[in-house]
This record gives sequence, C-alpha cells and structure tokens, in this order.
Amino acid sequence: MREEALRPRIILATRNQHKAVEIKKIIGDLVTVQQLNDLLNIDIPECGRTLLENSLAKAEFVYRLRGEPALADDSGLFVEALDGEPGIFSARYGKDDEGRIARLLKNLADKKNRNAAFRAVFVYCFGHGKYKAFEGECVGQISNVPKGEHGFGYDPVFIPKGYKKTFAELGPATKNRISHRARALRKFRKYLEQQM
Ligand code: IMP
Repeated sequence: MREEALRPRIILATRNQHKAVEIKKIIGDLVTVQQLNDLLNIDIPECGRTLLENSLAKAEFVYRLRGEPALADDSGLFVEALDGEPGIFSARYGKDDEGRIARLLKNLADKKNRNAAFRAVFVYCFGHGKYKAFEGECVGQISNVPKGEHGFGYDPVFIPKGYKKTFAELGPATKNRISHRARALRKFRKYLEQQM
C-alpha cells in the first residue's frame, strides 16, 4: 500500500459506478483513481468498431483534455450463436438491463449453443500517442432465465465456466477474482508495479 500523497493519479473515463468500484478494488492501493465525471460533466461518444478502438479513443480524449494519465475501458458480451452479438453494442442492446437481457434471451430461444464470453479492454494513455492496452476475457454460458441480485448488466444470465451459478448469484468476491475486467486489470496492475 502506497501512502496516498505518493500515489500517482489516474483519471478514469467511466460513468459506470459498478465498474469504478471494481477498478478501485484492484488498483486503488497503487494509484489514486479519480473519476472524470467528478471533475466535469461530459459524455464521451463511442463510435469505434472494436473494444480497443473505443477504449483508445476515450483514453486519448481524456489525456488531451486533462494532460494527466488516463485509463479507459470498453467491454461487452460476445455470444457465439449470435455471431458475437451484442459485442460492442452490449450497452445499446436495449433501453435498460431488463430490456437488454430480454432481447438476448429471445434471440437465443431456439439455440442449443449458449457459449459466450465477456471481454474487456483497458487503455492507459500516458502521453501524446503513448498508450498500453490490457485485455481480459471470461468465458461461460448464457442461462435460460435471469437469476441473482448482485452486479449489473448481463450478470443475471452469465454463468462463468466452472460454476453452476450466474455472476449475479455468485456476488462480487467471486466476480472480482475471475471477471474479464479483473483479468485485464491484473495485467495493468503488473505493468504499473513494473513502472514504480
Ligand atoms: P461499456 O463498457 O460501458 O461501454 O458497456 C458495456 C456493456 O456490456 C455494459 O453496459 C453491460 O451491459 C455489459 N457488461 C460489461 N461488463 C459487464 C459485466 O461485468 N457484467 C454484466 N454486464 C457487463
């Protein structure tokens, strides 16, 4: 644990409070994580074709805006039988989590193949044209019905490989060990430790 005054500050480009909590749990002892929307009210549009393009665009945007190291992520659920849908459109697949899950289950209704993967890409931008990307994946299955109260997004219908319960049933302790974001963030943490 670094003394707070000695910890470098990283600006985090996410409005998603659930994600911010997960991120702070994994790297909050090494760096001070400052959420961009606590500094200013701004919505960064996502118009890339891949998770990497989206997170890179967000991290570079925040770096140019603030002149401080910036961390951005993009993530999504990629379902095999739907040719990778909802993928980069995961957040825009319906008007709320309930609607997104309902659409997913409807599109999978006649499919035997329930294989899916959550993927996350973090980009850390620390100078003009200077960045590092960190990827994480968690594979699993889409359940037939939503179950569980924890987490957010598609957690109630995602059963990670090796488990019989959804992320929403398993809760944060398990999720933060095996999730796509945790895996990507551990790579970022290793990188930070090497820089210090
Ligand atoms: P973004 O990364 O904020 O653009 O959104 C990605 C979308 O993918 C989220 O709004 C969720 O719908 C979904 N998603 C990403 N990570 C998770 C997760 O850990 N659990 C459940 N849904 C997720």
